[in-house]
Amino acid sequence: MSTRQLHLGAMIHGVGHGWGEWRHPDALADASTNFAFYKQEAQTAEAAFFDFAFIADSLHIHAKSSPHYLNRFEPLTILSALAAVTEHIGLVATITVSYTEPFQVARQLSSLDHISGGRAGWNVVTSWLSGTADNFGKAEHPPHAQRYRIAREHVQVVKGLWDSWEDDAFVRNKASGEFFSPDKLHTLNHQGEFFKVKGPLNIARSRQGQPLIFQAGVSEDGRNFAAQNADAIFASPETFEEAHAYYKDLKARAQGFGRDPQQLFLLPGIRPIVGRDAADAEARYQQAVALVSIEDAIVALGRPFNDYDFSPHDLDAPFPDLGELGSNSHKGTSDAIKRLAQEESLTLRQVALRFSQPNRDFTGTAEQVADAIQHWFENGAADGFIIRSLLPDGLARFTELVVPVLQERGLWRKEYSGQTLRDNFGLAVPVNRHTQHRVS
Ligand SMILES: Cc1cc2nc3c(=O)[nH]c(=O)nc-3n(C[C@H](O)[C@H](O)[C@H](O)COP(=O)(O)O)c2cc1C
Repeated sequence: MSTRQLHLGAMIHGVGHGWGEWRHPDALADASTNFAFYKQEAQTAEAAFFDFAFIADSLHIHAKSSPHYLNRFEPLTILSALAAVTEHIGLVATITVSYTEPFQVARQLSSLDHISGGRAGWNVVTSWLSGTADNFGKAEHPPHAQRYRIAREHVQVVKGLWDSWEDDAFVRNKASGEFFSPDKLHTLNHQGEFFKVKGPLNIARSRQGQPLIFQAGVSEDGRNFAAQNADAIFASPETFEEAHAYYKDLKARAQGFGRDPQQLFLLPGIRPIVGRDAADAEARYQQAVALVSIEDAIVALGRPFNDYDFSPHDLDAPFPDLGELGSNSHKGTSDAIKRLAQEESLTLRQVALRFSQPNRDFTGTAEQVADAIQHWFENGAADGFIIRSLLPDGLARFTELVVPVLQERGLWRKEYSGQTLRDNFGLAVPVNRHTQHRVS
């Protein structure tokens, strides 16, 4: 067994990422609000010993949003239900810092952590759609740099609140009537640029101490935030070279923040397409390609640019000059798309299709997909992956065909070694900041 453990997460994403996946003959067209579907996917991932299931989220739609965005579960609610039908798999919820209060987030995630026996994680996002402001009575969507300042303070407050109670604070002595030890309850008294939170939090730490932090920063501010605060990072580079450069950069930044780089896990999102043989893999790849019309690809391309409408532009002309468009949205991703279009002199059609069509790197037989995973894992491009299924049976196929190959190669576990999400990552329970002085 390799000493370094590979990590796998399953993104459970209802009717899919694009606009056309719900139309696949085997797709459940109501999957995004179908509990039976979520339960089956989570249990499939758990039966293959995945580290965690992940639920993405955003808070603004319009008529052209993708089918999954239009009608989907709220992450903490669906994960609380999944907690009751699973035992080991981590449960990672996407929650924005730009439209929530830290007290509420700390409490909700801590509740999920207790309900699940220490399996909660938080994918910290800053929200990239400016229309979100209209749903929360805000005059404007905070600018990108400010959103990351909010993120830093928000996470700091949430973590502070999670340490409100020392682990042995609740005595619950029926004979003496002592419910808790008052000297083991701590008030945060935070006052910062964006938040004023007194505390303490009205829920104790769970068996994993604190939920894990996930993030996917691509921009300069995003990378620094992730390197400083995240336990695991999701960003999805397109090629091995990009992933390798990103990996090196983020590990170096983590070290720069005084962290052990081995305790920061880089988990690129991939969309594997697995065939029983080469012909089957190609047929499935073509099925996936057929689900992406150019019209849908153009709408999808608008997503990191605050849902910009590319349809008035000529599809076969060079990619348009967009100026600063995208800088206040998915800045890192929109900048990368502009750069790619320019460097390779691509047309709008070519960029849109490149952005939406599945990557061939993780398409093939089980052995070929396992080869690609092993190559990225062993050559400094990834510590693991998030599996973003493309076809309706994508996760089931991956677990049935690829997981056994990874196990045979000694790259993948054959059982869970612990109970919590931290256990799955081999991470220790963080010492409560108020008792730190007693251990050091
Ligand atoms: C695999 C993956 C999943 C993501 N999931 C979400 C999500 O659910 N909600 C969200 O608002 N942003 C999500 N993002 C966007 C990131 O949080 C981030 O905004 C984006 O990668 C751009 O980085 P930047 O803000 O540093 O420019 C995701 C990004 C990736 C790569």
